Amino acid sequence: MSDKTWTKIGKAGELKATELQQIEIAGKKIALSYKDGKFGAISGTCLHVGGPLGKGTIKDDYVICPWHSWDYHRITGIGSGLKDAVPQYELKEENGDLFINLTPITQAKHSKHPKHPLTRKIERAPGPIRVAGISTTVMNKKNPRYSTSEVLLEESLKHAASEHGAETKLIRLSDLNFSHCEGYYSKSAHACTWPCTITQFDSKDELTEVYEAFVFWADAVIISTPIRWGAASSLYYKMTERMNAVQNQMTITNRVLIQNKAASFIITGGQDNIQSVVGQMMMFFGELGFSFPQFPFIAHSRGWHAEDMENNVAYVQKSGRLKEGAHALADRSVTLAKELIKKSAPLCEVEKGGRKAQ
Ligand code: FES
Repeated sequence: MSDKTWTKIGKAGELKATELQQIEIAGKKIALSYKDGKFGAISGTCLHVGGPLGKGTIKDDYVICPWHSWDYHRITGIGSGLKDAVPQYELKEENGDLFINLTPITQAKHSKHPKHPLTRKIERAPGPIRVAGISTTVMNKKNPRYSTSEVLLEESLKHAASEHGAETKLIRLSDLNFSHCEGYYSKSAHACTWPCTITQFDSKDELTEVYEAFVFWADAVIISTPIRWGAASSLYYKMTERMNAVQNQMTITNRVLIQNKAASFIITGGQDNIQSVVGQMMMFFGELGFSFPQFPFIAHSRGWHAEDMENNVAYVQKSGRLKEGAHALADRSVTLAKELIKKSAPLCEVEKGGRKAQ
């Protein structure tokens, strides 16, 4: 006598109408498929970070996970790389109904995937105060122009090194080859991972340098941007969209990756909208977990009417006050960063960055 327990799923004829579907029976998520006259049932939970396999697609008899495209054979559950497998379930058709045995006939197999260096424990390495400057200016590398925001950023970094003994690092986003955010968060908050999904899957993506600076290396960051049509540069936004992976850790796992670090800003443009640009930047860097020194930005614009950009450059080149401002911004950032380092505990513990549901 068979000791198998069969649970009815539904009418076989109706279930055949859908090539792949996610069903839940007795608390188990199952990816149920029907193709070429044959049903298949495997676990509906992807081994990567739990994507709903039954909501994916089928290609050549493999179920493709809708979150990051791992695949599993729709009947055996074995991945095409043969290293990972999700459990397979038995099915039977009887009197027009489809039944499943909820005791799987194979077990999950999750091979060891090498850990990305960004998954290491976050702790400050001993050493002098460290300041990272991030220039978001877009530049023609063969024929570079004078960037007023980047020059002021360099002034801040030089001053931090000479007056405060800081280690400094200038990262120009235009030197880095990195992809646009591909919107995993828009599929599910849990599909947006740390490290960023792109960083995990594309070893050539160079935004890792910025993640390293923000999360691990720097005690203070200074971000510079030009004003483009009343907003920060396109490279700035390309970077910030990828930083969703950092902020999202707070909302999905209550894990704060950035704390006790200072952020400040340098904004220049031929036309106005400084306060709006810095407002956006402060909001975003605040949401990442950074703290701000008193008066957290310096800026320069000659106003809406000033289309004579060459005079804008000349003004910044001559301006002793802007240079002094860049130095003073470095002073304020380093002073705050030193105070924050003295704290051995997080500044505050706020569940899910304040997003706790009522
Ligand atoms: S590939 Fe399935 S959750 Fe990432």
